[in-house]
Amino acid sequence: MNQSLSEVREQFLGDAAAAANADTLASLKDKYLGRKSGLIAAAKKTIGKLGAEERAEFGRQVNELAAEVEAEIGRLGEAIAARNEQAALDRERVDVTLPGTGAASGHLHPITLVRQRIEDIFVSMGYSVEDGPEIETPFYNFDALNIPASHPARDSADTFYVSETLALRTQTSNVQIHTMQRRKPPLRVIAPGRVFRRDTPDPTHNPMFFQVEGLNVDRRITMADLKGTLTKFVEMMFGANLRTRFRPSYFPFTEPSAEVDFSCYVCDGSGCRVCKGTGWIELGGSGMVHPNVLETVSVDPEEFSGFAFGLGIDRMAALMYGIDDIRLLYENDVRFLEQFA
Ligand code: DAH
Repeated sequence: MNQSLSEVREQFLGDAAAAANADTLASLKDKYLGRKSGLIAAAKKTIGKLGAEERAEFGRQVNELAAEVEAEIGRLGEAIAARNEQAALDRERVDVTLPGTGAASGHLHPITLVRQRIEDIFVSMGYSVEDGPEIETPFYNFDALNIPASHPARDSADTFYVSETLALRTQTSNVQIHTMQRRKPPLRVIAPGRVFRRDTPDPTHNPMFFQVEGLNVDRRITMADLKGTLTKFVEMMFGANLRTRFRPSYFPFTEPSAEVDFSCYVCDGSGCRVCKGTGWIELGGSGMVHPNVLETVSVDPEEFSGFAFGLGIDRMAALMYGIDDIRLLYENDVRFLEQFA
């Protein structure tokens, strides 16, 4: 190779070995391949000084060197880019085995979970779900339900009065009246909701709690329909093969009236802690809708009859989740509520 070309080549190889990043590479490219002042361009200019016979060989060697330098710069460029990329990957490395932080998500309250199960069961039996006012007039909460003006439950010692004429409802039975005023039988409804009583709080009482009311009015509805319906409900809610028991009772808005119990699903009736040794668990009150109630909402008791029931949702939640103090359901302590996610 021509003496000056081989010097340029040596110099280039030395410079190339030292090119560590994109900047030094760019100046390397400029130094050797620059069109105006690059060393190879400078070498090409010396061609005029050569004799005619040397020119062709020199031209070939210059082009060869230019190609070599270009290829080497290209190779170095790729190597630097690959090194940079690897460095970035190392720098931004994510340890996919680290535990995640997780998104906190809320969930439904145990009372809501139980209420939804109750609703699903009755909807599957053809019932619709009704809503009713929590602040109520004495007419809907008492009079229309055949509760006489002298009844002790109406006393302000038992009922929260908001004004002379309004009180917090003491039972979901008020929805029976609203429903029958709005719709004519046949009708099958349940009405879950809050009720309020001036009870002293203890493990089984809270001044606010939840009931679900049921009402089925049609032609020829009998006590057998009531028993069949609540027995089916108990089976679907607490377990197949459970038995129900109807004890004579008294409610002003039903005649006859019955208190409903079901056989203990824990001990199957032999007596345990859950059923307090009796073998039976109380479900709620029920009965055949009193003719006076039907007449108040202009339903002819000669043509229609019906059954009604009122069950405690809190009690069912306490049973299903093994909660021994229903007040826990209303304290909104997250440590308690978290258990029902
Ligand atoms: N309202 C009653 C209570 O709060 C429960 C009840 C009993 C509702 C008998 C009814 C029923 O519809 O027929 O204690």
